[in-house]
Amino acid sequence: MGRALVSACALLMALPAVALCAAASDARAQAQQAPQLPATMRAAAFDKGGGPEVLSIHNLPIPSVGPGQVLIAVQAAGIGAWEAQMRQNPGEHAKFPQVLGGDGSGIVAAVGPGVRGFKPGDRVYGTGNGFYAEYVSVRAENIAHVPAGMKPAEAGVLAISGLSALQGIDDVLQLKAGQTLIIHGAAGAVGTLALQFAKLRGARVLASASTSEGVELVKRLGADAVVNTRSEDLTAAARGFAPRGVDAVLAFAGGAELEHCVDALRSDGRGRVAFLYGMQPAPKPRFGVRITMYSFVDGPQELARLNQAVGAAHLQVPIAAEFALADAAAAHRRLEAGHLLGKIVLRVR
Ligand SMILES: NC(=O)c1ccc[n+]([C@@H]2O[C@H](COP(=O)([O-])OP(=O)(O)OC[C@H]3O[C@@H](n4cnc5c(N)ncnc54)[C@H](OP(=O)(O)O)[C@@H]3O)[C@@H](O)[C@H]2O)c1
Repeated sequence: MGRALVSACALLMALPAVALCAAASDARAQAQQAPQLPATMRAAAFDKGGGPEVLSIHNLPIPSVGPGQVLIAVQAAGIGAWEAQMRQNPGEHAKFPQVLGGDGSGIVAAVGPGVRGFKPGDRVYGTGNGFYAEYVSVRAENIAHVPAGMKPAEAGVLAISGLSALQGIDDVLQLKAGQTLIIHGAAGAVGTLALQFAKLRGARVLASASTSEGVELVKRLGADAVVNTRSEDLTAAARGFAPRGVDAVLAFAGGAELEHCVDALRSDGRGRVAFLYGMQPAPKPRFGVRITMYSFVDGPQELARLNQAVGAAHLQVPIAAEFALADAAAAHRRLEAGHLLGKIVLRVR
């Protein structure tokens, strides 16, 4: 049986009421007309940029499943810190209605031609576009099986934050056992996971947060020292933590306090700073300090590495708040109010 036909049959495994393995060339069309896949789905979408109130439930066609793609019946969608901005200013080339949602989790409903490693019924999570919906079609290379024991809501907020956290620690900062790290903004979506991965690698971590609840959370997640930037002196805390200077800074919030973190680096030219594209304001350049802006990278190897680290760290994935799909506007209001402990999840089913 040729590869294309195998894939077509795999697609049809999701659709038992359809005559099995009808002509492969018709497989995609048949998949979209499958009896148990409705023609339309509920999605939290918007027709123009604006405040949270522009988000409302739309009935939209189920996305098609092209070669190399997987259709996911979404269980949970992550709400990214940057999505309020995407809703407010969708850009002049935006297509409407627009469905946000860069990551999430769910059950494979169908697989397209050429997809290997996934079958209907598999529990998966990953990145894509349009997770604020009952179904999303994503590239198979950007999803992975949900780590054992992880709930749908946790998996729903894991992909972008987890990849960003792990790659910051391993690839950008190349943190080694015994080295010292300040995580600035450690109570947020990426920071809570980066803290646990830094501990997994054997680093000593000073974690900053801006609320007492945030301080309690990062203590629970294993920080060696904590500082509440609203009530304590970060410079003094850093000096007490690493009198000869810290090896590295991982930043999830910019501004004056981040500059104090950079001031606390070792002065022999080996200090380094990592921050994610989108974080504002970026740290000011310094002589003798390597400052790297990065973005998360997805793909099968990256997700396999993440799954391995999730298991090794017994990762806890903090959920800041949960909202139903129909309450996406309320979820965005909560996002804009700030002081989130972890990430907001949208419960889709
Ligand atoms: N390019 C990429 O690949 C990528 C991927 C993921 C994220 N990002 C970007 O990376 C940044 C972090 O993302 P995230 O999802 O982790 O955002 P987040 O959940 O909002 O986390 C930021 C954290 O920083 C804290 N914070 C702000 N000011 C602080 C201060 N002065 N002292 C201590 N803590 C402070 C916030 O706490 P309070 O709210 O309590 O102040 C919050 O806990 C965002 O800018 C996001 O857009 C980029």
